[in-house]
Amino acid sequence: MVVSTVNPTAPMPVTPIFNPTGNDSVENRTIWFGNTTNLMQLNDVRYNWAVGLYQQMRENFWIPQRLDITQDVTDYWNLTNEERYAFDGILSYLTFLDSVQTCNIPHLKSSVTAPEISLCMAEQISQEGMHNQSYQYMIETIIPTEKRDKVYEFWRTDRVLKERCEYIAMLYQKYVDHPTQENYFIALMADYLLEGLYFYNGFIYFYNLASRMLMPGSADIFKMINRDELSHVRLYQKLIPEAMQVFTHSTDQIYEMFDKAVEFECRWTNHIVGNNILGITESSTEQYTKYLANSRLRAIGLDPLYTDARYGKSPYTHLERFSDTKKEAHTKANFFEATVTSYVMSSGVSGWDEI
Ligand SMILES: [Fe+2]
Ligand SMILES: [Fe+2]
Repeated sequence: MVVSTVNPTAPMPVTPIFNPTGNDSVENRTIWFGNTTNLMQLNDVRYNWAVGLYQQMRENFWIPQRLDITQDVTDYWNLTNEERYAFDGILSYLTFLDSVQTCNIPHLKSSVTAPEISLCMAEQISQEGMHNQSYQYMIETIIPTEKRDKVYEFWRTDRVLKERCEYIAMLYQKYVDHPTQENYFIALMADYLLEGLYFYNGFIYFYNLASRMLMPGSADIFKMINRDELSHVRLYQKLIPEAMQVFTHSTDQIYEMFDKAVEFECRWTNHIVGNNILGITESSTEQYTKYLANSRLRAIGLDPLYTDARYGKSPYTHLERFSDTKKEAHTKANFFEATVTSYVMSSGVSGWDEI
């Protein structure tokens, strides 16, 4: 148990809309528990990394409708039934993830007392909302009218997905219902797990299809979402070590959260993809998810949870070129036609393994 002066059962202070007696000087500025006026005083900042990150997030700006997904309309019917089932199911799950982020980040943001951090979170909220718009664009363009509602509402009929959504939402809801400092820290960690662990088996699925010359437009969209998500991962990799200095927490509890997250993630991926799709097996899903968990733990200063050597590397390095988040891939190209899109890649994120 790491002990700090903060009281875990006390309410988490929410910043007032305007606090005329606040003090935004750099010396007084802290990420939480500060005395901010709540004005965006960005001339002098304490957390310079946040200014660079915000700039990078802005440079990542993109519009889903500018990416051509017409090939995918035909490809969709060339997928096997299992591949189509996984395509629909993963889109449904990702819609949930971005919906819940759009809804929850404002709760976390409302207690932040450093405006440069608030700025990053405001941009994150905007991006999560736009990711939902990109799913809508894919669903409306690729999936036939009569199936669209089923994709959105897959969680109503799929027990595994429903349990998964309920668990993720529960960790956030706990803080909303009981806004204690302890629950804030848990919600922050849950956020890191969502950003750092929950998207990636889904991304891998689309990169896998692209590597087999299927659904290139969808993969292009996921590359852009992937790039945004990595900037969010970076944000929480900065915030969580700071939070670990401030909030009372238990390292065992963090490991428990990670282990449970890995278990749920593998269960869901095995359920929706399983061993049906070439290149993705239950074993590679387990290896990849545990590898990601180890790397996310290391990034916040904790030892890896899974010590077997196989969890030290990704089984999907051959798909990295499709992720397009490598430093050398500054300009995006459609997989098969080498049509360069108008989007310039940010150089801020040098690769998905380095986040
Ligand atoms: Fe997102
Ligand atoms: Fe995100």
